[in-house]
Amino acid sequence: MCGIVGYIGNSSAITPVIEGLEALEYRGYDSAGITTISDKKTLTIKQIGRVDSLKPAIDQDGDKTAKLAIGHTRWATHGVPSNTNAHPHQNTSGTIFVVHNGIIENYQTLRAMLKKDGYKFVSETDTEVIPNLIDYFLKAEKDFFSAFKLAIKELEGAYAIAAVYANDPDSIFVARLSSPLVIGVGESAHYVASDATAIMQHTKKVVYLNDYEVAVVKKAKVHIEDLRANINTSREAQELEHDLETAELGQYEHFMAKEIDEGPQTIQSASRGRLRLDGNIVKLGGLESVEAQLKYIDRIVIVACGTSYYAGLVGEYLIEEIAGIPVEVELASEFKYRHEPFSRSTALLAISQSGETADTIAALKKVEDYGVLRLGVVNAVGSTIARMTDAGVYCHAGPERSVASTKAFLAQVTVLAEIALYLSQGRSLLYKPVLKELLQLPDKLKTVLEQAEKIEALAKKYRHYRDFLYIGRGYAYPSALEGALKLKELSYIHAEAFAAGEMKHGPLALIDEHFPTFALIPDGDLLEKTLSNVQEIKARSGPVIAIATKGNKSVARLADDVIYIPPSLEQLQPLLMVPVMQLFAYYVTVHKQLDVDKPRNLAKSVTVE
Ligand code: AGP
Ligand code: GLU
Repeated sequence: MCGIVGYIGNSSAITPVIEGLEALEYRGYDSAGITTISDKKTLTIKQIGRVDSLKPAIDQDGDKTAKLAIGHTRWATHGVPSNTNAHPHQNTSGTIFVVHNGIIENYQTLRAMLKKDGYKFVSETDTEVIPNLIDYFLKAEKDFFSAFKLAIKELEGAYAIAAVYANDPDSIFVARLSSPLVIGVGESAHYVASDATAIMQHTKKVVYLNDYEVAVVKKAKVHIEDLRANINTSREAQELEHDLETAELGQYEHFMAKEIDEGPQTIQSASRGRLRLDGNIVKLGGLESVEAQLKYIDRIVIVACGTSYYAGLVGEYLIEEIAGIPVEVELASEFKYRHEPFSRSTALLAISQSGETADTIAALKKVEDYGVLRLGVVNAVGSTIARMTDAGVYCHAGPERSVASTKAFLAQVTVLAEIALYLSQGRSLLYKPVLKELLQLPDKLKTVLEQAEKIEALAKKYRHYRDFLYIGRGYAYPSALEGALKLKELSYIHAEAFAAGEMKHGPLALIDEHFPTFALIPDGDLLEKTLSNVQEIKARSGPVIAIATKGNKSVARLADDVIYIPPSLEQLQPLLMVPVMQLFAYYVTVHKQLDVDKPRNLAKSVTVE
């Protein structure tokens, strides 16, 4: 979602800014733009559509001599995607230019105040108040940075902001609150970006801005101030530890297909060096620093969104069953506003692929002053959540580019199983079997993925239905929730999931020959119970696709179509069932000729609440 890139240095600024915006493209956006400043000449080129579609205008009119530029990819929150609403936005007199990620919650009040003062607004965005507000303060202040700071102090909401001023072609002014912003230190140049991936090809020396900080970024120096504490802060640049992680499509048509295919190695990478069969050891280096604290934890609250939330639900079952610690899983967006009792012996565990999800960050912030342990299960190394938690376990799934999360789910569940084993300290009867099975799972998953053609045939057969139900019990229930999310977000088919036992309490009323059900019925203690639910669906002419364990005969007798997974422990079956549903959603979407990797209205990294 939305990206900021800026450059100030000795070279032409357009290239690094456009390259940076391209590096952030996978996140999803609807329009793009760039402003350059050179010797008081300013030029803004912006339009709806991809960064690529900006290039002809830049080639023709762009100011290649400019050594300063800011660029943006917008994911509309206030006002439709349009050329006018695209960033950068400028003040009425066209001297101040701003790119902004996030939401200014009090923009209506500010806009009304500024309008009274004669300012004109051309866009529907909340962002447009920012350049005008800076202009408003500049009348009295004269010094741009002072006016910038006064304007920032008036803003409520969440923001990463980069501003430039026509009369100062040597500076980029930045600010952040609840939305990431990083400054890259180059050779006689500085970069600013909302994500280090945008600038990593130029430099790995970075300074992360903290909340309430503002900075003036010049070619050769950076000046940072903390607005809340009212002090200058200086910080050494840190070296990014990880290599530039790029994802290439290779032989694949879509990133999603590639990322599903990477499932087996994803589970392997999440286990590498952590699980040792000889000696039955589970070693989670990321938790060692808080080992003593963990001994006093008697409750865990997991916060996450979307797919990560469903992985969290699997984690709840795993940690409660294996480690015997009570777990609650909360949607981060709800947790932030709930008034629930929270004691110091409760740990908050945030799960996030991107590590930049605004709701999850807000949930972590909420407990900031409680003195509780904050843990993370994060994929993106060095991301905000990874940095703001006390300890955590990285997923090591590598970059995930498709908006629909696939391999990250597998990595998250694998890590949560490892955390469950770790917390059980070897005391659970499940300790050895789960540890052993985790190591065998990559090979088992390979045999599941080999059925891609069969799953594609089913996708073709079922793609015309308008609605879908997903059901399961136990570990299959959160798996069903994730399966339904995949189908709806990609194919736009209405899909919802229920615990199979809930069918009779309402959803069964939906069932007829036009309403198919994806039933997860793997072997296990609850097999017979789910089979009865499927009987009830069949009795009402509902078509049924089932996932069953290889060798099971009773499911085949009942369901219209069956996909088999290899025998496995119930606790780890989600890692075999979910990829089947990922592939199903993928093929339905391909055959409906929709945009698999960038579904409408969605973004990869949801950086606004
Ligand atoms: C699911 O496919 C995604 N579209 C989305 O729900 C995602 O899982 C959610 O936004 C959480 O993202 P995170 O893991 O990066 O925090
Ligand atoms: N709220 C701003 C807008 O709608 C910024 C959105 C973004 O983060 O891209 O233009």
